[in-house]
Amino acid sequence: MHGLIAPHGGTLVNRLAEGARAQELARDAATMQRINLTQKQSCDLELITNGGYSPLTGFMGKADFESVCKEMKLKSGRTWSIPILLSVLKGCEPKVGQRVALYAPNGTLQAVMLVEEVFEHEKKLEIPSVFRTEDPAHPGAAMVQAEGEVCLAGPVESVTVCVDPKGPEAFLSQRLTPAQVRAEFQKRGWKRIVAFQTRNPIHRAHEYVCKCAQEICDGLLIHPLVGETKKGDIAADVRMEAIGALVAKYFNPATTMVSVLPAAMRYAGPREAIHHAIMRKNYGCSHFIVGRDHAGVGNYYGTYDAQKIFDEVDEKDLGIQPLMFEHTGYSKSYGGMVSGKSFPKIEGDIINLSGTAVRDLLFKGERPPVEFSRPEVADVLIAAAKSGRLFVQ
Ligand code: ADX
Repeated sequence: MHGLIAPHGGTLVNRLAEGARAQELARDAATMQRINLTQKQSCDLELITNGGYSPLTGFMGKADFESVCKEMKLKSGRTWSIPILLSVLKGCEPKVGQRVALYAPNGTLQAVMLVEEVFEHEKKLEIPSVFRTEDPAHPGAAMVQAEGEVCLAGPVESVTVCVDPKGPEAFLSQRLTPAQVRAEFQKRGWKRIVAFQTRNPIHRAHEYVCKCAQEICDGLLIHPLVGETKKGDIAADVRMEAIGALVAKYFNPATTMVSVLPAAMRYAGPREAIHHAIMRKNYGCSHFIVGRDHAGVGNYYGTYDAQKIFDEVDEKDLGIQPLMFEHTGYSKSYGGMVSGKSFPKIEGDIINLSGTAVRDLLFKGERPPVEFSRPEVADVLIAAAKSGRLFVQ
């Protein structure tokens, strides 16, 4: 392999206006119709801006939307699994040809968009194709259901990459753009790079799959998602603190890098696994870890559905290679981390704790077993539980 993997579509998109152009946009924005973005839309906009969503240069139009829902491809034929839409309430839509000002939830001007298309938000198409369910209890489906009925599409020009550099979830020093991550990989001389997506603190099973992948790559990018997640998930700042404590003690800095992904979770399981992989390709990674129930929630997806879906996409077009892992855990008989592939399955042998069991321990101030979670990680979580900041409220 020569150099780093090419971005999806061949060119890393950059929609950031700088200098005089940014000033001009900010000035013009004052006279434009204002659109207040949701957290999810603001996250999507950041990824359009920084190239994490290459080849997208703006929110999707109808043809791309329908093709993504039905075929998991953009109309150009490129693999793409999740619609990236800007929907607004009916009656609030601007006219085609108009420029609108997009404001982040904290009130900051984020971008200006030229409206090229206004079309109906076909939730009846989006929800079942993306989430494989229409159950209103599914958090991703519920989010789409609550969105506006009209979508606006068109190219964006942003005046800022990152909206809230001082907010608690900003992680500015670790919030590297794809271009910055790629530059760092080049500086380190890495070519075979594996990305690890997570929306949790890193427990032993996560750590084990990272280590296995690390053995066959030049470097590991631990790339936690820090955009919007649902109520009851572990708060991003707590996760980052726990990951910091873990990495400092148990990983080799020469082969490990930590940066954050400013994306919003969809909880779309299989479809989201493809989406997560494409973003990491844009960040310069050649390999991507997909373990059990990747990006899943509740019992909506089969344990390995997020792996099987990779058979449905064109491997060459996708480019980034999934590294699939079976369910792993600590085996008492073996005395170490295993999966059903590396050690025979024995009833009751794997130390497996439910989310609720872990929660109960943390709130009692007790560490989960060391075979489940490193003490350094447990301590960060216990402190967060004590101070009431463990979960997204
Ligand atoms: S996710 O929503 O980001 O997928 P999570 O943070 O729990 O959730 O998982 C991060 C990655 O680790 C995913 O690829 C997931 O499949 C994998 N993973 C989590 N737990 C295990 C496990 N016990 N065995 C194997 N892979 C796992």
